[in-house]
Amino acid sequence: MIDALQTRYGIEGAIAFSAGNNGLARMVLTHASGASTAVYLHGAHVTSWKSPEGAELFFVSRESHFSPQHPIRGGIPVIFPQFGGGPLPQHGFARLSEWSVAGTEVRADGSVAAVLQLSSTPETLALWPHRFHLELQVLLRERTLTLTVQVLNTDPRPFDFTQVLHTYFRVADCEQAAVVGLQGTTYLDSLRDDARETEARDEIRFAGETDRIYLNVPDCLHLRDEGNGRVLAIEKQGMPDVTVWNPWIDKARRMPDFGDDEYRWMVCVETGVAMAAPTTLAPGQRWQGETTFRVERDPA
Ligand code: BG6
Repeated sequence: MIDALQTRYGIEGAIAFSAGNNGLARMVLTHASGASTAVYLHGAHVTSWKSPEGAELFFVSRESHFSPQHPIRGGIPVIFPQFGGGPLPQHGFARLSEWSVAGTEVRADGSVAAVLQLSSTPETLALWPHRFHLELQVLLRERTLTLTVQVLNTDPRPFDFTQVLHTYFRVADCEQAAVVGLQGTTYLDSLRDDARETEARDEIRFAGETDRIYLNVPDCLHLRDEGNGRVLAIEKQGMPDVTVWNPWIDKARRMPDFGDDEYRWMVCVETGVAMAAPTTLAPGQRWQGETTFRVERDPA
């Protein structure tokens, strides 16, 4: 399978397929600058993004499963069609599904792109009785990584969905990290029965378990990783909501696929649509959302 993918979609110096952890198929995109990103077909799951200098910007747990039955812990789980708990498996089935490659290219400006796709199958229809087509485009430039998600309703009836890019950023120390740009926005505090509050702080810092859904937030946020002297911009379109999550000590201990101490080295800033309540897509209608991560300041 990996050889067939390489023959059909591999591009010398830019797109390479290989067996990743536990033999799962993985695609690595490499930009001429040296920047790279890795994507597993299992979940269309981005597990790595490296700057041209080779610094890893995403966190993946050393305890993560790499198996068809489990989501990968870290990187960017693609959440669809359900966020959190509910009738479907937690965070939906997209992160548990095998996606396929729809295309790869190196564009005239040197950016490297790959598109992965997932459509309804008898298995997804048994779980969720709606026909859909999902696409994730991964676009790598020297200092940016852009993920564009499209959801197409191929069913004769409308359906409700939520879509989230559940990004785990690697930080030197979460107590020396801050999410900037949420002041004045409304959030639901998942740790207090979704109590609705207004964010008073100009920066969100981490000193305990944090699990909040911020609604309709500005389209440009920043993550300051002070321990690494790095600033990342998070720019989004069509993804109004953001969840900020860190499990801290007790929840880390309860998570079987996460090291007890690893909460220190990660912060999730998750971008998406309809996190508080699903949105409706009419038959034949297409929804698109996009998030770009940009390294604004790199350690000297
Ligand atoms: C976050 C939720 O989006 O995902 C948290 O807000 C949850 O409550 C976290 O713990 C991780 O979820 P999971 O299913 O990957 O363990």
